[in-house]
Amino acid sequence: MSQLSQRPEKPVVGVSMPHESAVQHVTGAALYTDDLVHRTKDVLHAYPVQVMKAHGRISRLDTGPALAVPGVVRVLTGADVPGVNDAGMKHDEPLFPDTVMFHGHAVAWVLGETLEAARLGAAAVEVDLDEQPSLIALRDAIAAESFHGARPVMLTGDIDAGFADSAHVFSGEFEFSDQEHFYLETHAALALVDESGQVFVQSSTQHPSETQEIVAHVLGLHSHEVTVQCLRMGGGFGGKEMQPHGFAAVAALGARLTGRPVRVRLNRTQDLTMSGKRHGFHAEWRIGFDAEGRIQALDATLSADGGWSLDLSEPVVARALCHIDNTYWIPNARVAGRIARTNKVSNTAFRGFGGPQGMLVIEDIMGRCAPLLGLDPMELRERNFYRPGQGQTTPYGQPVTHSERISTVWQQVRADGRVADRHREIAAFNAAHPNTKRGLAVTGIKFGISFNLTAFNQGGALVLIYKDGSVLINHGGTEMGQGLHTKMLQVAATTLGIPLHQVRLAPTRTDKVPNTSATAASAGADLNGAAVKNACEQLRERLLRVAGGRLGTNASDVRIVEGVARALGGDEELAWDDLVRTAYLQRVQLSAAGFYRTEGLHWDAKAFRGSPFKYFSYGAAAAEVEVDGFTGAYRIRRVDIVHDVGDSLSPMIDIGQVEGGFVQGAGWLTLEDMRWDTGDGPGRGRLLTQAASTYKLPSFSEMPEEFHVRLLENATEEGAVYGSKAVGEPPLMLAFSVREALRQAAAAFGPAGVSVELASPATPEAVYWAIEASRRAAGSPNGHPGDGFATGAGRTGAAALSGA
Ligand code: MTE
Ligand code: MOS
Repeated sequence: MSQLSQRPEKPVVGVSMPHESAVQHVTGAALYTDDLVHRTKDVLHAYPVQVMKAHGRISRLDTGPALAVPGVVRVLTGADVPGVNDAGMKHDEPLFPDTVMFHGHAVAWVLGETLEAARLGAAAVEVDLDEQPSLIALRDAIAAESFHGARPVMLTGDIDAGFADSAHVFSGEFEFSDQEHFYLETHAALALVDESGQVFVQSSTQHPSETQEIVAHVLGLHSHEVTVQCLRMGGGFGGKEMQPHGFAAVAALGARLTGRPVRVRLNRTQDLTMSGKRHGFHAEWRIGFDAEGRIQALDATLSADGGWSLDLSEPVVARALCHIDNTYWIPNARVAGRIARTNKVSNTAFRGFGGPQGMLVIEDIMGRCAPLLGLDPMELRERNFYRPGQGQTTPYGQPVTHSERISTVWQQVRADGRVADRHREIAAFNAAHPNTKRGLAVTGIKFGISFNLTAFNQGGALVLIYKDGSVLINHGGTEMGQGLHTKMLQVAATTLGIPLHQVRLAPTRTDKVPNTSATAASAGADLNGAAVKNACEQLRERLLRVAGGRLGTNASDVRIVEGVARALGGDEELAWDDLVRTAYLQRVQLSAAGFYRTEGLHWDAKAFRGSPFKYFSYGAAAAEVEVDGFTGAYRIRRVDIVHDVGDSLSPMIDIGQVEGGFVQGAGWLTLEDMRWDTGDGPGRGRLLTQAASTYKLPSFSEMPEEFHVRLLENATEEGAVYGSKAVGEPPLMLAFSVREALRQAAAAFGPAGVSVELASPATPEAVYWAIEASRRAAGSPNGHPGDGFATGAGRTGAAALSGA
């Protein structure tokens, strides 16, 4: 077992414990960025001037009337920017635009003594626009060939030969929705400038180093003149990977120009109308199967709705392509990706980062094709799993390590969920109930861990031991509720061999650990954990030498366990505090910077080939739903999950991540129905679902009635920190099981062998239309009149699947 995966005696990792801030979270004591405003004097409040048109050049911007509003201190416009007027890493995101690119685009910010003054000031700013034509619907942008950024193509094998060898070829189209992050804490930043001109920004950001970089660019400063701190986030989910930079820059610019602290905090409507979301996608595909239902070839084009600027759309599309295989071996493939430019907010990272979109396409294909192949969907999926020991690689050329776990978790979840028995029970139930049907589906996931861009796969830490033996750790990752800090405390305590209460964690700051990567790609614990471990190992080595001296033995024969150092086989004990004090008196350095980079990764973005991932995460879920044939209303009766997190660093945290991820995925696929005004009226381009009242999020009433989550046992991941695996994103995709269960329940209203098309999100309305379509299919000998397809795609209006 490698050095990195090995666990010492009595490790603190692997112990179930609550989130380090759980008590503060539930008592309200936990501070978030905007809570700091109440502890800061003379704060100015910033309010955006949003233009409520989808597209147009600004012909006149008059801030005069705002300045006449009592309490308004200043209006920030592009003319005030001393550095670069841009908030993106792609330099296509003017912070103060001269062209409005989407409905609700902020073109100026008003600073006021109170939020109300700033709001009234913003309302008084006069903006004239030369309106321009806009593209809102993804379909319209594709038809207009409005694309931006890279257009990668992933190629493997020979698709023509693959199709020629196929006994069955099907093709289809599928368009599915975007998703709002709906983190509880909206975007927030608070900026201060000190007497030396040093800028300090508190920001709700997953990526403090990049927020620092953008603030510095906008202000025309060097990075060492800007410090960004993130205390914690009330959720990020990818929405705070890149989007916080501009808000932080506005606060910093205001602070720099006025000399007073400036606060930006979006209200919910502003957050919803100004910040990017999960990319909705359109997919066109053709797939070939052999006579046994094994995939021979896949030809697909995925088009993501990128919104007005690039943001993270390129890596999101790359990850979508890299996940279209999911758990299936596709010997011959051609998959193209492109990014539509629309007049909407700039879509961004969201849990899974394009992976869910790629995987949804293949799972939808499986669900639609199984009946046409005369196979049970579970059987079709199993037949196509990657097989260990056969030299199979992903379509981008990476060997699938631990691919045996695809069937391990699959078999375990089938056993845990008594799937075979329940299928029989469900068949009996469905036969007895003409207007209520149940469906039970099992789906699996494979998710690649690491950033596709190799350079991002590094982490840093700074660990300090004080004379009294107390330990303070700093690392480059941010806390957004996922439990990263809890894990980091456990890692430090484990490596040093001390009890958890001896270790404290400092808020994430760019002046403690520089040049950090975003806490994203689920790699927070892998990267920062290995860096914390590395720093603690350096300190431990030094302390072992000191202890060896005191105990009269070699350093290599000393163990520190639960805060006590002992020589192997010896009785003498040396307490941690004593050891640390001795080290200090001997002038041994008691701080260490830790570093980690993931080895063995390579990625050629042009050729779209390589091994971009350190390892893969696996999981499987079985979901049962019950659907009402009159309304399409449904409930989730039961969910079983077996998920692979390696040897868990913190089992309770990981189970929470699996449950939360699953529910967030189920929200995306079944409930959350984002609507935009695509009409030609005055509201064109407006987000219609601007509040929780119209955007339905999963709540307690939608939870599975029975919910069993289990972590795969004996799952050590070689070469990852203490044998653990990333957990943050992959479980979201276990929710495919719910969607497939709904498809099967809808199919049960019609004759056997009918392929049911289901819109995504599969809202009750969409399910209703799928039921209607499968009922209609009963009219013909082989199901649907003519072709064996039932189209209930509802609002997406996707063209029907066609067979050849
Ligand atoms: N869990 C909570 N509670 N809140 C969040 O915002 N974000 C998710 C996931 N789990 C998130 C979460 C996303 S998008 C990612 S990439 C990971 O956490 C990031 O943290 P990690 O790398 O430490 O797992
Ligand atoms: Mo997560 S989408 O990688 O922040």
